[in-house]
Amino acid sequence: MIRENGGTAVRIEPLELADVERLVALAREIWYAHYPAIIGAAQIEYMLDQRYGRDVVRAELQRDGLWWDRLMVAGQLAGFASYFLTGAPGEMKLDKLYVHPRHQRHGYGGMMIARACEVARRHGCRRLTLAVNRNNRSAIAAYLKHGFRVADAVVKDIGGGFVMDDYIMEGNVPLNG
Ligand SMILES: CC(C)(COP(=O)(O)OP(=O)(O)OC[C@H]1O[C@@H](n2cnc3c(N)ncnc32)[C@H](O)[C@@H]1OP(=O)(O)O)[C@@H](O)C(=O)NCCC(=O)NCCS
Repeated sequence: MIRENGGTAVRIEPLELADVERLVALAREIWYAHYPAIIGAAQIEYMLDQRYGRDVVRAELQRDGLWWDRLMVAGQLAGFASYFLTGAPGEMKLDKLYVHPRHQRHGYGGMMIARACEVARRHGCRRLTLAVNRNNRSAIAAYLKHGFRVADAVVKDIGGGFVMDDYIMEGNVPLNG
């Protein structure tokens, strides 16, 4: 998916193994810009380690039924998304959606959701689901804007003395389409 945004080339394309180092650094930058007031530094470190360890990402890149996309703005990695088939009939989970603060509110999050929807549709999915922290107001606003609804609220123990206090949101594929 390629788009011109005011003369800036924007691409959403599969993440590659060679991107892993930059991805891990970008995830850390976005998480520390966004999450300290929501989950605190200790939980950020714990979750970065669980979800963005180099080996974790490399293993996911090899996995069937799981996709990582990169958002490239003017040739630079500016965001990313991942999503996977949950095994429940017709369901894809949008597991990660992140845009660098400098590039937020330009429609890129929506573009990555649209791309996840395309893949979901190709795999016979009717539903895209996700979990978002209940206090992550700007992300919840983004998901509502892009056609998701709140379906449930869950508190999940993730070990290390931490919990995820989330809304489950879901949307029909295609969203807004
Ligand atoms: C959520 C996120 C991926 C959306 O990406 P994006 O490129 O900004 O999304 P879009 O431009 O398609 O949509 C923007 C909408 O998101 C919401 N939004 C995004 N940033 C916002 C902010 N700082 N304050 C308020 N609303 C915000 C608004 O509804 C906005 O619409 P508007 O600009 O018309 O008011 C991005 O903001 C992000 O990376 N946030 C930090 C990390 C995060 O929380 N990720 C989700 C984890 S579940």
